[in-house]
Amino acid sequence: MDPQALENEARSAIAGASTLAELDEARVRYLGRRSDLKQALREVRDAETGSVLNTLREGLEGAVAERQAELERADLDRRLTEEVADITLPGEQRPRGHLHLITQIRREVEDIFLGLGYQVVDGREVETTRYNFDGLNFPPDHPARSPLQSLFLNGDVLLRTETSPSQVRVMETQPPPIYMVSLGRVYRRDTPDATHTPIFHQIEGLAIDRGITMGDLKGTLLHMMRALFGEEREMRFRTHDFPFTEPSLEPDVSCFLCEGKGCSVCRYSGWIEIAGSGMVDPSLFEFVGLDPEEWTGFAFGMGLERVAMLRHGLPALGLLWENDLRVLSQF
Ligand code: DAH
Repeated sequence: MDPQALENEARSAIAGASTLAELDEARVRYLGRRSDLKQALREVRDAETGSVLNTLREGLEGAVAERQAELERADLDRRLTEEVADITLPGEQRPRGHLHLITQIRREVEDIFLGLGYQVVDGREVETTRYNFDGLNFPPDHPARSPLQSLFLNGDVLLRTETSPSQVRVMETQPPPIYMVSLGRVYRRDTPDATHTPIFHQIEGLAIDRGITMGDLKGTLLHMMRALFGEEREMRFRTHDFPFTEPSLEPDVSCFLCEGKGCSVCRYSGWIEIAGSGMVDPSLFEFVGLDPEEWTGFAFGMGLERVAMLRHGLPALGLLWENDLRVLSQF
């Protein structure tokens, strides 16, 4: 093997490689394990030949590295000019969801009461009759205790029929003063129609302190109604009967559609039935070991679906549950 001839041939192959793949081919041919040069190096017997061949190997390795750097730079240049991205083009639109209307209203109501210094409390959707009925002063023969009206899981465990059990749980675990709201799902064995579904949402409110009066109840509800339905709203109260309040009051809000003149939404009365409320019955205090002579309070409950339907003129409750995006995306 003539080292000089080999060097000339190898150098021209390296310089002539126009792609990284061609360069690699040349490297394998002239410097690879089975190349003439490696073969000759293995057979070297004297120091002088060894030094000549090693110098040749180093020279060729250097030439390969240099050519590789050149080719890589050229490749980068090409990509920088050819593969330009127009970053001013609009990106791919990803559809973005939003909160369900009921969740929006839930958060809005929570905000209203956080603004009044209330705490937002989690209740339980699976309750016992102790909290769903006993602690709320439901008499033993109350129809809501029947499995025909309420959804029992087993024995005295049921899906809560209202958010009111949260009142008992909070009173049991926190000393007054208490200012709390609790929002969430409730369950009733109702046949679905335009205004009923077996699952719906309520807000529960409870305020307990020394010297709480019905004036506090009225002022607080009026604040909530005006925040939800507009600052011009008025309220009126009708007497009612709930086991857990005495006296019990049903607040009506003046119709925000007809401004009280009468329309189909308010059934031509000017007033819309919207909630239940009252002064906390002394028996609830006794149930949790609070002194009814020392503490007084008010409570209220309201359906969130009803707020949604009224505010947006929804003709049927089911629209909120069918997950039809043509409907839901409007809110
Ligand atoms: N729990 C009642 C219902 O589901 C609503 C209610 C009425 C809640 C009066 C209250 C209240 O806290 O004081 O119909």
